[in-house]
This record gives sequence, structure tokens and C-alpha cells, in this order.
Amino acid sequence: MKKLSARRRHPLAALVVLLLALACTGGLYAAFAPASKAQADETAQSLTIEEGKKLYSVGCASCHGTDGQGTSDGPSLVGVGAAAVDFQVGTGRMPAQQPGAQIPRKKVVYSQAEIDQLAAYIASLGAGPAVPTEEKYGDEGADIAKGGELFRTNCAQCHNFTGKGGALTHGKFAPSLEGVDPKHIYEAMQTGPQNMPSFPDTTLSEQNKKDIIAYLNAVNGDETESPGGLELGGLGPVSEGLFAWIFGLGALIAVAVWVAARTAKAKKS
Ligand code: HEC
Ligand code: HEC
Repeated sequence: MKKLSARRRHPLAALVVLLLALACTGGLYAAFAPASKAQADETAQSLTIEEGKKLYSVGCASCHGTDGQGTSDGPSLVGVGAAAVDFQVGTGRMPAQQPGAQIPRKKVVYSQAEIDQLAAYIASLGAGPAVPTEEKYGDEGADIAKGGELFRTNCAQCHNFTGKGGALTHGKFAPSLEGVDPKHIYEAMQTGPQNMPSFPDTTLSEQNKKDIIAYLNAVNGDETESPGGLELGGLGPVSEGLFAWIFGLGALIAVAVWVAARTAKAKKS
């Protein structure tokens, strides 16, 4: 005890303590700080990819191959990008279940966090379109009228004028776009799932995509209840006109026939 207190009073004691303290702080700093932003991001990213790979091995590898190279049951996923995974898994299309003409939308089995991990893993296999950020598919700065025009020229032939969907050949169909998440609409255009062509930025610019999404939000939103009350499903002027002719005129003819039959009967008796 005596020895220690004697040392404490040594003129150099303060200096030694100071140096020790500095060394400790420096060491601590070296241990934690340089694993700063960039490195921490990198480790987080590789952890995400690692987790994604695990999920992939369990849920997807049987059809898409152990390293995403594809098998006879599913195409290669190298280079499809995070957007394709976010779309396919986020709309419940993947993991696919029964074979059929077209893999439909169904209940989503992964959480968004897991989907992000899967997407990070697939993106690490080869570069492809990234998941769009909210500002790309938000309504801000979008031109709804332009979007309607673009929709009618690029999408309506399959999805119908107001996005109600329609049948295609061989049991395939273009689904209704009502209630589809704007992010998934963007990704569908980016990646062109199954029988849908893809619309890369060279065909439809980011602004064009934004306009189309705003248009779909507008026609499918609650505020656009059909003004006449009953609607015919937005089939277009020709089919709706035909409907009016067949059913409207049909009803008039039926009434006319009925009246004629009654008067004929009345005359006989
Ligand atoms: C039962 C087999 C099967 C399973 C399981 C499966 N897939 Fe698929 N997947 C397919 C088939 C078949 C297609 C091709 C569909 C088409 O385009 O006609 C496909 C397509 C895809 C695509 C689109 C590729 C592209 O070119 O845009 C992605 C992305 C994808 N799958 C991801 C996954 C992920 C992630 C999982 C696991 C969660 C998974 N799949 C599980 C069979 C499967
Ligand atoms: C050649 C016909 C065709 C054209 C043109 C087309 N699509 Fe599609 N679309 C499809 C088919 C088929 C599917 C279903 C694919 C699937 O289930 O994987 C689909 C799916 C979609 C989906 C996914 C809907 C859901 O339920 O998850 C969206 C969103 C979509 N299309 C938007 C568009 C937009 C926007 C355009 C125009 C820029 C467009 N499509 C043009 C045929 C088409």
C-alpha cells in the first residue's frame, strides 16, 4: 500500500496515467470506430446476403438451382436483379407451387425483411434492376393525363383500358391492376414477368412509369366511382355500346313481342 502511494506521488505518475488513458482510448477507438460507416455497411450487407442465401437454399434452390443457375423447373436468376425478386416474392408468385399456364399471384409467404434478404442475395449473383425507391413511384410530379395516354398505347391491349385485366391465349391472362402496390407496378414494368414484355427505361422513361402509376391510382381509386352508378367494367366504347344494343334493344323487342301477343290474344277472345 505504502509502495503504491509512494509511486502515486512520483512526479512522473501523472504523465504515466495520462499516457495509459490515451492508449486505452486510442485502442478502443481503433477497435470500434474504423469499422465505421463504410465497413459497417459492408458487413451488414454481407450478413443480409448470407441470410438471403439461407432462405434461398430452403425455398428456391430446388427449382432455381443451388447457385441460382436454373434447373429444368425454373429459369436462371443470375442478373434478374433485386426488382424481379421483390416483385415475384412480394406478390406471392414465388415460390411457385403447382405447374400451370401461368404462375398466379397468391398469399405472400415471406416478410418484407426476408424478401429484401433474398433480393440482396440474387442481386449479388449478377447485376440487374434494383428495387425502386418511393420517389420513383410516388404521385409527386406525375402527369395523370400523360399516364393515361401511355397506358392506352403500351398496356391497354392486355390489361384493358382502365387496368381491369383480360384473358390472353393458352390459358394465360393479364391480371387486373386494381389494388396492386405502386412499387410492384413499377417492378412489373422494369422486369416484365412471364408473358408481359419488359419496359426498360429506354422504352418508358422513369417519368413515364411514374405517370402510368399515377394514372392507375387515379382510375382505381375510390374517388372515381362510376358517375352513372352501374358500370360495365371499363370494356371500352365499342363493347359497352354493343352491350347497350344487345340488351337495351333486346329488352325493347321483348316488350314489343309481349304486347303484340297479348293484344292478339285479347282480340281472339
Ligand atoms: C416450384 C418451382 C419454383 C420455386 C420453388 C421457386 N420458383 Fe421462381 N420461378 C419458377 C418458374 C417456373 C419461373 C418462371 C416463370 C415464367 O417466367 O414463366 C420462376 C421465375 C422466377 C423469377 C423471375 C425471373 C425473371 O426472369 O424475371 C424470380 C425472380 C424467381 N422465380 C424467384 C424465386 C425465389 C426468390 C424463390 C424462392 C422464394 C423461387 N423463385 C421459388 C419456379 C420456381
Ligand atoms: C402482352 C401483354 C401485356 C402488356 C402489353 C402489358 N402487360 Fe402487364 N401483365 C401481363 C401478364 C400476362 C401479366 C401476368 C404476369 C405474371 O403473372 O407473372 C402481367 C402482370 C402485370 C402486373 C402485375 C399485377 C399483379 O397482380 O401483381 C402489373 C402491375 C402489370 N402487368 C402492369 C403493366 C403495365 C403498367 C403495362 C404497360 C406499361 C403492362 N403491364 C403491359 C401482360 C401484359
